[in-house]
Amino acid sequence: CITFSAGALAQAWPARNITWIVPFAAGGPTDAMARDIADKVSKQMGQVIVIENAAGAGGTIGAAKAARATPDGYTFLVGHMGYMGAGPALYKKLSYDPVKDFDAVFRFPDTPLVLLVGKSSPYKSAADLIAAAKAAPGKVNFSNAGLGSSSHLIAALFEAKAGIDVTQVAYKGAAPAINDLIAGQVDVMFDQSNTALPQVQGGRLTALALTSTSPMPQQYPGVPPLAEKVLPGFEAATWYGLYAPKGVPREVVQKMHQAYLKALGDKEWTRRMGSQGILLLPDASYAPEAFAKHTASEVERWRKVVTDAKIQLD
Ligand code: MLT
Repeated sequence: CITFSAGALAQAWPARNITWIVPFAAGGPTDAMARDIADKVSKQMGQVIVIENAAGAGGTIGAAKAARATPDGYTFLVGHMGYMGAGPALYKKLSYDPVKDFDAVFRFPDTPLVLLVGKSSPYKSAADLIAAAKAAPGKVNFSNAGLGSSSHLIAALFEAKAGIDVTQVAYKGAAPAINDLIAGQVDVMFDQSNTALPQVQGGRLTALALTSTSPMPQQYPGVPPLAEKVLPGFEAATWYGLYAPKGVPREVVQKMHQAYLKALGDKEWTRRMGSQGILLLPDASYAPEAFAKHTASEVERWRKVVTDAKIQLD
């Protein structure tokens, strides 16, 4: 056990490379968002941020690794709604507690999701897809980024709300899951709107519906929100953010958060995120305390959602 004076450490911090653990495969939405933000924050701090992809089990493997790391300001976790929100309700034996084992550092912007099918799909709308799944329970395959990932959770909510039964196929991240959707190995996937966009614009996938309640005419012209006709009241977006293992010096959290806020002052950057369909939040929502509160309330909210929708890791 190493002892150190928090004050002295924080003064010198960051003295070497910092690692952000991304618990999904490279090239997916969590990875893309993390790399973009890490790049901007690292420039503000004058220190390299290394992204470490530790994929598997819907993000819970990487999160467990981060929870066990030394809270010295050099290892962080990029967390999201799944393993840091719904995780405790979904996994009977989770080796970490999103609230007790982590200090929230800052929240990222949110991303809505898009219901996607391959180019030769017979489904031309979400209503088509629901009708087909009703006619043949278990026949329609949905790929997802791992059990408890947001692509899995949103598909499970869609299943519950639409009253259908589909087969979920788990991958180590949205990147391999989307590759198999493009290749026609699976039928449907919910992916984050930002990483799905180049696939849709490039003509490799078709977007059938959005999980946001408003349309996204700039990014997805003509694509309706699910809430519009098919599933009134349906609304979902993935939240993300940065966490440190519990007990990290307070100054480290503050410096990291300040560097992020400064980076967000770059209007060209925030405009580019907006153009990808990323939902920017009021500055107050990004703060460590607000993000800690959000995490705790999400853990509680998901307990209810998981029970009500009977989401199971099968
Ligand atoms: C998810 O669907 O939970 C994530 O976006 C997975 C990923 O980033 O690959």
